[in-house]
Amino acid sequence: MIIQNFMPEIGERSVQERILTCLRAEPKALPSVFFYDQKGSELFEQITKLEEYYLPNVEIPLLSSTAKKVNSELKECNLVELGSGDCSKISVFLDAVPKDIRETIIYYPVDVSKDAMEKSGHILQNKFPEIGIHGINSDFIEGMDKIPGDKNRFFCFFGSTIGNLTPARTNEFMERLGNVMDKNDRLLLGVDMVKDINVLERAYNDSLGITAEFNKNILRVANDHIGTDFDPDDFEHVAFFNKELSRIEMHLKAKRDLVVKSGLFEERFIFKKGETIHTENSQKYTVQHIYDMANTAGLFVSDIFSDEKNWFSLAEMVKK
Ligand code: AVJ
Repeated sequence: MIIQNFMPEIGERSVQERILTCLRAEPKALPSVFFYDQKGSELFEQITKLEEYYLPNVEIPLLSSTAKKVNSELKECNLVELGSGDCSKISVFLDAVPKDIRETIIYYPVDVSKDAMEKSGHILQNKFPEIGIHGINSDFIEGMDKIPGDKNRFFCFFGSTIGNLTPARTNEFMERLGNVMDKNDRLLLGVDMVKDINVLERAYNDSLGITAEFNKNILRVANDHIGTDFDPDDFEHVAFFNKELSRIEMHLKAKRDLVVKSGLFEERFIFKKGETIHTENSQKYTVQHIYDMANTAGLFVSDIFSDEKNWFSLAEMVKK
């Protein structure tokens, strides 16, 4: 296994600026990328094991059944996984691919976390010694055009991670990927589908309060970066389905009037009781939406693989 580093040196200063800008905005916000410090990643791991959080329960068997259906397309390919994380999804996927095909694949995980990639890459390599592994340490936008086109590329973007992007960023992402892709390349895109609102809302309001803790943890991350004195207990976890925009929104709502001070910056953030910080959007998709995204990218939807309830989809796209 080799890992190539494409991470730009982002100074702490620009991270601080980003957080400050979002907190100065009206309404206040914090970007969801800041959920995932050590603690936040552990909490997310716990979320994936919750009964109410149906996403992995539906996506994982779907990865397996889909891999069986597309395995002939994987022969001799560069298999690219954008946002590979702990490589657990690709591991399930590859498990359902015959060994004689696996032998011909080079796997390119793309992820911002070099540590996660090293660790999970080695585990994967031990499980599948016949696969070449070439890690790309980069974000999933910059990473997509770093993959050699000497062989057919099979891009995977699982977990409905795309759902965290704003509609503008989603279009940008799809356009860019459409430009990168050649005639014989493919994309397998995981998206969480619109479903019963109660099912959706329960998934983000679990009875153990893990999602609430995960949401509030972002305030600790802000404190670490900009020296604020946010007390997570001053905020209430709010998550609901926004029907018009077809997305789950997560917010943190001030339980009382607050003045939050930063020791590093001479700055105060004033909260009225009930005021919110917008922390996350998680887009929920329709089939029409999948076609629209493909269209934006100049791609064509060749197949949509779903579970029997149509709760989650893996949309396969090729160049028009
Ligand atoms: C990792 C973006 C798929 O949107 O469901 C889980 C993150 N937020 N619970 C999602 C998340 C709250 C998750 N994704």
